[in-house]
Amino acid sequence: MKRHTLALAAPLLALAATTAITAPAQAQQAARPWSNAKLSPDARAKLVLAQMTEDEKLTLVFGLFGTDFAPKNFKTPAEARPGSAGYIPGIPRLGIPAQWQTDAGVGVATQGSAVNKRGRTSLPSGIATAATWDPALAFKGGAMIGAEARASGFNVLLAGGVNLLREPRNGRNFEYGGEDPLLAGTMVGAQIAGIQSNHIISTVKHYAINDQETDRFKMNAVLDRTAARMSDLLAFNFAIERGTPGSVMCSYNKVDGLYACEQPWLLTDVLRRDWGWKGFVMSDWGATHSTVAAANAGLEQESGWPFDEQPYFREPLKAAIAKGEVSKARLDEMAHRILRSMFAHGLFEHPITAAPLDLPPAMLKAHADVTRADAEAAIVLLQNKGDVLPLAATAKRIVVIGGHADKGVLAGGGSSLVYPVGGNAVPGLEPKVWPGPVMYHPSSPLEALRRQLPNAQITYLDGTDATAAAAAAKQADVALVFATQWTGEAFDVSLSLTDNQDALIDAVAGANARTVVVLETGGPVLTPWADKTAAILEAWYPGTAGGEAIANVLTGKVNPSGHLPASFPRSLAQLPKPSAPNEGETRYAEGAAVGYKWYDAKGDKPQFAFGHGLSYTRFAYAGLKAAAPKGTVTVRFTVRNAGTRAGADVAQVYVSGNGWEAPKRLGAFQKVSLAAGASKPVTVTIDPRLLAVFDGASNRWKIAGGSYKVLLGHSADDIAATTTVTVPARTLPASWHP
Ligand code: BGC
Repeated sequence: MKRHTLALAAPLLALAATTAITAPAQAQQAARPWSNAKLSPDARAKLVLAQMTEDEKLTLVFGLFGTDFAPKNFKTPAEARPGSAGYIPGIPRLGIPAQWQTDAGVGVATQGSAVNKRGRTSLPSGIATAATWDPALAFKGGAMIGAEARASGFNVLLAGGVNLLREPRNGRNFEYGGEDPLLAGTMVGAQIAGIQSNHIISTVKHYAINDQETDRFKMNAVLDRTAARMSDLLAFNFAIERGTPGSVMCSYNKVDGLYACEQPWLLTDVLRRDWGWKGFVMSDWGATHSTVAAANAGLEQESGWPFDEQPYFREPLKAAIAKGEVSKARLDEMAHRILRSMFAHGLFEHPITAAPLDLPPAMLKAHADVTRADAEAAIVLLQNKGDVLPLAATAKRIVVIGGHADKGVLAGGGSSLVYPVGGNAVPGLEPKVWPGPVMYHPSSPLEALRRQLPNAQITYLDGTDATAAAAAAKQADVALVFATQWTGEAFDVSLSLTDNQDALIDAVAGANARTVVVLETGGPVLTPWADKTAAILEAWYPGTAGGEAIANVLTGKVNPSGHLPASFPRSLAQLPKPSAPNEGETRYAEGAAVGYKWYDAKGDKPQFAFGHGLSYTRFAYAGLKAAAPKGTVTVRFTVRNAGTRAGADVAQVYVSGNGWEAPKRLGAFQKVSLAAGASKPVTVTIDPRLLAVFDGASNRWKIAGGSYKVLLGHSADDIAATTTVTVPARTLPASWHP
């Protein structure tokens, strides 16, 4: 079953029936001037719209769930892709293709209630991809999952999660890009661009301030509007600029007292007037709550019927138009925006066909390499005392403990779950149904280690008996403890590891100083045992080839280069909200001071800072210079690999100004691969909005003239060099973009 329990039963199937009229294709072609791909998407949308009846327009703005839903007596049309998230019938009379929608950000998901699951390639979690700090990799991952979406019969991928990690306990943080607007927006935007390179539409979601899952269907998020522009909304703004998604998905929660899908400030003032975005807004599944308010506020497509309490678009919208409560022009605009995205992203020129359940093995094999490369670059070496890692080739006795490392690697739960080819490696764990099942991709770190270290004796204990684990660790050269945290949609989590895993790590570390902890978590967790352990590796949810990727990093076949996209707190007391997310209303008093900005503003230090990530080599910076000849700050420096192994550095440029939410902001970054001893010059520019304060009264970005500090660092709390730059005073319209 899916996520809601709904009482109402009002199947709308009759309304969704495809108007299947066929005529010889060529004759149609001549009569269809909108099929001229040389015209702009807007011109084409206008041409086809002029031929559409009101009912056809209403068909486009009303989405159906793509899977049967028994509690509401809902049977999806036969034309929907089985077990999918959504279906909007096409209009064959005019050659308008259907929209076939599937989740989501790590690959082609299947709804939990579907009988047959599509086995597909899973990327590492969104936060993991953000940890690569490598937009080119994010693009490749997006291109890969977009190719699988197309090959699976889908032309809309509901990916692009970019909610800011403001609440480390948010159960969906694994789907998003971390705590910084520039990093998250850049990485998620690149992934969207990759997805859409397959001539399909991607979303960006969940718009907006959907930063917790507790009470997600109705909680009211209250965040100062100017602070939102410099935090949550800025992440969306960057992702939209970089990715140009065809669709934005508005979220479940309320924002400033109104449901996000009927909040005109979000949907019209910010998205249209200020950002000039031209795609269409679709609601999250069950996030529409009105007809007139939603349509007039800027919602273009009600999604996933029957998840709303009642249908609000289609017949009720028709009635509202008849009464003049919603104008005919608004319905035209709604349909226009949907069609425009379909033209702009190639849905007309690159038709999709129904697809078999299984993908060709050669495709899956090639895609496993893409996801493995992403996972390898995402893994963050948080701590490495006494250079316990990489595992010495001479290590003879290694004990691997816990985390089902003998079987596979963990995935996050909920609608984004990609079912693995080969099935769940650890079936039967609770919860078995929504937002479960708890899924392990069949990629065993233990087996990969055994393959790579054939001369070592590698034993495995499941970790349920801490005493036995400690005894085994005592006999070993190195102990590897795999610790997991299952997170997912529809619930928030504690930051403490469950199932006595902290005690297990304590016991093992007490028995063997050379204890390495490998974390598979949705996001930041508390690591009270950090001082007692030698090394800590954050592997996130590493996807289809995750076990191999982890082993490659442990053995040094791959030099770790991931850096944290989110701070790991030392304790809950350090957070803006020490207590668990509440129901009803959440006020974000910290404003734009999210993550490292919060710690900086408080003069506090987290356990592991934003941007932190070690390597098996060392990097040094030289020649830091910053200039702003025409107002835009350009920063130059050289990165040198000062160690003895090839590796990749993530050079982070922070800026420091006055009157900001916090002492510094990430202004730019660059991942640089270097052979041992090699160096490379780097030039980056800083988006002027990152030097500005958003002024609500004038609706403009304001940059104060004067001297700014430019800091070059290995992480938010490890700054290697500082310089200053003088910037002229400037104001920029809210619509400014590079
Ligand atoms: C989720 C969305 C998802 C949709 C369709 C909702 O519950 O919040 O992220 O795209 O379902 O499955």
